[in-house]
Amino acid sequence: MQIIKDYIAANKDRFLTELFELLRFPSVSADPKYKPDVLHAAAYVAQKLREAGAEQVEVCQTAGYPVVYGEKITDPKKPTVLMYGHYDVQPPDPLELWKTPPFEPTIRDGKIYARGACDDKGQFYMHIKAFELMVQTQTLPCNIKFMIEGEEEVGSDNLGIFVQQNKEKLKADVVLISDTSMISMENPSLETGLRGLSYLEVEVTGPNRDLHSGVYGGAVANPITILAKMIASLHDENNHITIPGFYDEVTELSANEKHALNEAPFDPQEYKKDLDVQELWGETGYSTLERTGTRPTLELNGIWGGYIGEGAKTVLPSKASAKISMRLVPNQTSAHITELFTRHFKSIAPKSVKVKVTPHHGGEPVVTPTSSVAFRAAEKAIEASFGKKPIPTRGGGSIPIVALFEQELGIKTVLMGFGLDSDALHSPNEKYDIYNYYKGIETIPLFYKYFAELSAEN
Ligand code: BES
Ligand code: MN
Ligand code: MN
Repeated sequence: MQIIKDYIAANKDRFLTELFELLRFPSVSADPKYKPDVLHAAAYVAQKLREAGAEQVEVCQTAGYPVVYGEKITDPKKPTVLMYGHYDVQPPDPLELWKTPPFEPTIRDGKIYARGACDDKGQFYMHIKAFELMVQTQTLPCNIKFMIEGEEEVGSDNLGIFVQQNKEKLKADVVLISDTSMISMENPSLETGLRGLSYLEVEVTGPNRDLHSGVYGGAVANPITILAKMIASLHDENNHITIPGFYDEVTELSANEKHALNEAPFDPQEYKKDLDVQELWGETGYSTLERTGTRPTLELNGIWGGYIGEGAKTVLPSKASAKISMRLVPNQTSAHITELFTRHFKSIAPKSVKVKVTPHHGGEPVVTPTSSVAFRAAEKAIEASFGKKPIPTRGGGSIPIVALFEQELGIKTVLMGFGLDSDALHSPNEKYDIYNYYKGIETIPLFYKYFAELSAEN
């Protein structure tokens, strides 16, 4: 432990400077205008992996953005950890709400503000620095493989193919990911599940062209009104989703599981205050932690149509659209839920409009084991660095590759994230506490130590 602390203390400033360099690349995967920046970020990650001591470092081309790979195999008999992260980030919009520019990392009050500070650059870079630390102090007890991709925020479409084509190269005993949140630094936790995702776009078309709303209004269905009604009907009075068959595969938690889940510290007053809402919302019969961690949901992510420019325009628009995502829980599958949604949405459309449903990306839900050697190693590592045993929690977000690793490689994942829900992921003023960054670099080598020790015992 002292070796770790000393190395971090001696290299503190450089660890931060390097992260800042990485944060300056606007590696937004969703918007093609950032393509050169995404590629520069990949090259930077590869260079930093090499400098940290990784071998066989490669920027692997895919049909989309490249996967950065690197490894250090010290002894084939030792256990192998596959570290996964993503160097792409969400778009920074709305720009006007950022206090300092998203790609000029700035420290305020002990926190690093930048797009990607927490999701996921700040978090995966901790692994590269922890790796450097273990190499330099000759304390690396496992083989390591790094796989850092550039399309996570757009659904990892090409990663499935990459994994299928590189099964031998990616062989490992466990996947380690820091891309999730903890409850707080006082209440360290480990996520033991992620929700799946089914994302689609709907378009409702009324008349074949925009019309004068005075001349035609009252005689022709307005697609915005129709879309609004259709969307509103997707939840009933108990905020239960009304799509037939939607819950068929969903299983209820056992009384014990429910109890354990609700043991996690959670203060609804604080939660409401933080979000400035008077009341929380959700499916009747479930607590907030159950709603976000164990129940499927349907959310509107965007809605548009008609005139949204300055001033007024009296128009009865031809089209209205929305982006909708559904979070899925174990046993639901993305393809099936997309199909159920599509069928239902078309069936509730009145004859006065036409409906088009276009599926985007998806991902499958996962529950990660809590009795594995790797999970116990993560628990021990956190207990050693935080002085407190981590609380297992279920996360609401999605990382589609986790289910794919299991399906294609048969490898389970440990989600050892150091973010906080208050880090404003995907929002303006995303941040990552400098404290969490160093704490992560301190905890990761301990994971390797305990993983090697516990693996040897088994
Ligand atoms: N790191 C997040 C997922 C996450 C955040 C999990 C916090 C648990 C806690 C990841 O980068 C992400 O944003 N995933 C997307 C899905 C993807 C297919 C666009 C998500 O969850 O919306
Ligand atoms: Mn992420
Ligand atoms: Mn994200």
